[in-house]
Amino acid sequence: MRASTQSIVAAVASVLRVFQVNPPILTPEAISHRTLLQDEGGSSGSFVSQVPGCTVTQTLMVHSFANSYGHPYVGPYAPPQCSFNRVTLNLTVRAAGKQFDRLAVAYFGDIEIWRTSTAEPTPNGIIWTYVKDVSHLLSLFTRNQTLIFDLGNLINENYTSPFNATLQATFFTTTDTEKRADLIVPISAGRCASNKSSAWNYHYGGALNTLVLPQNIERAVFTVSATGQMDEEFWYSNVLCSNVHTFGADTLPGYSPFREIQLLIDGDLAGVVWPFPIIFTGGIVRGFWRPVVGIDAFDIREDEIDITPWLPLLCDGESHSFELRVVGIDDNDIRSGLLSESVLTGKIFIWLDCVGSVTSGSYPIANASAYSIALSSAVGTTSNGTNCTLSYTVDVDRQLSISSEVQTSHGTKVAVWQQSLAYSNQGNISDYGDVQVTRQNTLGKATSSEGYSRAFNYPLFVNSTIVQDKSARTLFISASLRRGQDIEISGHSVFPTSLEWFDPRYPEEVGRCGAHPRFSGSRLSTVQNGSAVYFSHGNTSVSPGTTQQDLSFYGIQTQALGSSSVNLVDLYHRHVLAVNDTLVRDEETFPREAN
Ligand SMILES: *[C@@H]1O[C@H](CO)[C@@H](O)[C@H](O)[C@H]1NC(C)=O
Ligand SMILES: *[C@@H]1O[C@H](CO)[C@@H](O)[C@H](O)[C@H]1NC(C)=O
Ligand SMILES: *[C@@H]1O[C@H](CO)[C@@H](O)[C@H](O)[C@H]1NC(C)=O
Ligand SMILES: *[C@@H]1O[C@H](CO)[C@@H](O)[C@H](O)[C@H]1NC(C)=O
Ligand SMILES: *[C@@H]1O[C@H](CO)[C@@H](O)[C@H](O)[C@H]1NC(C)=O
Ligand SMILES: *[C@@H]1O[C@H](CO)[C@@H](O)[C@H](O)[C@H]1NC(C)=O
Ligand SMILES: *[C@@H]1O[C@H](CO)[C@@H](O)[C@H](O)[C@H]1NC(C)=O
Ligand SMILES: *[C@@H]1O[C@H](CO)[C@@H](O)[C@H](O)[C@H]1NC(C)=O
Ligand SMILES: *[C@@H]1O[C@H](CO)[C@@H](O)[C@H](O)[C@H]1NC(C)=O
Ligand SMILES: *[C@@H]1O[C@H](CO)[C@@H](O)[C@H](O)[C@H]1NC(C)=O
Ligand SMILES: *[C@@H]1O[C@H](CO)[C@@H](O)[C@H](O)[C@H]1NC(C)=O
Ligand SMILES: *[C@@H]1O[C@H](CO)[C@@H](O)[C@H](O)[C@H]1NC(C)=O
Repeated sequence: MRASTQSIVAAVASVLRVFQVNPPILTPEAISHRTLLQDEGGSSGSFVSQVPGCTVTQTLMVHSFANSYGHPYVGPYAPPQCSFNRVTLNLTVRAAGKQFDRLAVAYFGDIEIWRTSTAEPTPNGIIWTYVKDVSHLLSLFTRNQTLIFDLGNLINENYTSPFNATLQATFFTTTDTEKRADLIVPISAGRCASNKSSAWNYHYGGALNTLVLPQNIERAVFTVSATGQMDEEFWYSNVLCSNVHTFGADTLPGYSPFREIQLLIDGDLAGVVWPFPIIFTGGIVRGFWRPVVGIDAFDIREDEIDITPWLPLLCDGESHSFELRVVGIDDNDIRSGLLSESVLTGKIFIWLDCVGSVTSGSYPIANASAYSIALSSAVGTTSNGTNCTLSYTVDVDRQLSISSEVQTSHGTKVAVWQQSLAYSNQGNISDYGDVQVTRQNTLGKATSSEGYSRAFNYPLFVNSTIVQDKSARTLFISASLRRGQDIEISGHSVFPTSLEWFDPRYPEEVGRCGAHPRFSGSRLSTVQNGSAVYFSHGNTSVSPGTTQQDLSFYGIQTQALGSSSVNLVDLYHRHVLAVNDTLVRDEETFPREAN
């Protein structure tokens, strides 16, 4: 029974605490806090709790990233000498001075374990802590590993701040019965042996691994991690190739605002990812992102592609190729163009069948024929024929399905992976390129016969105006934006969803009188909107702004076996408002526990 509402009014601290808004995750502190609430005679609900086993925190890295391009932190990891089934990572970073936002990727060996980015510091200094549930990587944490933490930073007379980072892992044990992947296989550049980052800096292809997998696989899920850089950072505002020279010498970034990441197995399409538009802390106008960073900026999500239908092929003991492609649209060539400048890795989560069994079945049948692209663009000119406006639309639809019959030691099953996706983007550029309005929507649904489904919706609206005077060395940007992320996941996701925080304590209590049933899925819904300006003159700049974020998290209950009625249970809300680098409102509520 808790309705915690706190309002922080203009708390001015010398060191600014920066944060990402996200639902609570299961940690030992969260569990003891909940137990305390129950002991106070509160909730009748009984939640996931700790059982004997270790509760240990280890420091994995303490490092200052200064001139660190091409020089990641490299250090050993050894698991604690006790049993555990959950792991969280705590990344705490301090920075003071002036610096860009930077991308950071952590690896165990050749396997990416966390992709994050840095906040931009202030002269007085900032600090942030992000705690990530990495229990899905359990099979990696139970063995010795080489930790490679790649945060490429640059220090010079103008950009002065290093990023001082501490990474800790906390191990604990709960009544959790989730069966984690037995094996995690990297699809990456594989540069751990030379102490380097294993991301592909994707440039016209080449993101391909060939490998032999075990023959006794029961289920396999491919996950993809990708980030656009340079001309690809604001890909959702890129224009068609035929329009990149609309405003003369300053070439606009091209390949359209549409991006698709494709997974190919032995050259055949196995699934796609339509990415969420990440905006880093210096993105568009930095005044939007302090102290509340953009959605997922500290924890860049990976999408899942179930490749179980490919098992009859992949378990034949031969080598097979896995290739990742980043695709935009090249309307000059009337074909899909491959793109440069993205940072890319993948991995395969594998659940094994019993030792000695060999998975077989039918060759997968793929249907990716339903794919449509519609483009339009128009250039407006002034009376003397100079281009002054550009408007364009891009609409893409895709339906994809892969199916096969898979035989394991448990019998024969029909394995199916299906995706249904729709994308639209409407862009208007005016004032000879200085004003740009982008309205984009990406939505879709993926379903696997292994009992997983994910529906998503990513609306985005950005309106920005740039006024630059090169001779006076001034730059003024004014922008407003509104963006959302809505994700509904049911069934066996590879990744933890935060539901663990709200689930009942013991599986055997489910269905017992008074105990609430476990949730079959979750829905995360968040919106950020605001307006901000940026003004720079020479080496000095200011960026006031206002950003609001609302986040809601729901549990999904399927009422009764065989019944199709679904109940959305309101579990968590957070509302924050930041004005001019100050958090002026922060309200957190747990509706179910309040009644
Ligand atoms: C793991 O690393 C620890 C610490 O370096 C070492 O003592 C141990 O022998 C290693 N274990 C294995 C299986 O290599
Ligand atoms: C970061 O670490 C460096 C080197 O240890 C130190 O000089 C600097 O003061 C630290 N910065 C912050 C903000 O803690
Ligand atoms: C630092 O900024 C000044 C003024 O803008 C510029 O002239 C100089 O080249 C910059 N230094 C570096 C290392 O980028
Ligand atoms: C995260 O680690 C930092 C130390 O680096 C510590 O001060 C902080 O209390 C930890 N936070 C959580 C929630 O574990
Ligand atoms: C990689 O780094 C480790 C730890 O810093 C070091 O012991 C090892 O020699 C390095 N290996 C290579 C190939 O540079
Ligand atoms: C005007 O825009 C069109 C289409 O983007 C482009 O092909 C043409 O070169 C532009 N004209 C000038 C003078 O820049
Ligand atoms: C492929 O899928 C499309 C759309 O889902 C469907 O119309 C078509 O009949 C399918 N083709 C085959 C060969 O199954
Ligand atoms: C065309 O007209 C615009 C204003 O309408 C002016 O800025 C531009 O210099 C003119 N260009 C030429 C080539 O005359
Ligand atoms: C772009 O301009 C067209 C035509 O003026 C208008 O209908 C549309 O709403 C505009 N789109 C955006 C995103 O502002
Ligand atoms: C974009 O912002 C400008 C300046 O604030 C405003 O005049 C314009 O109406 C906005 N456009 C849209 C489509 O909201
Ligand atoms: C965000 O949108 C809400 C609802 O449209 C509006 O009331 C609020 O003023 C906006 N906040 C900011 C900071 O623009
Ligand atoms: C934020 O800063 C701007 C520019 O300094 C100022 O005009 C505005 O009033 C400030 N907003 C608030 C709520 O203090």
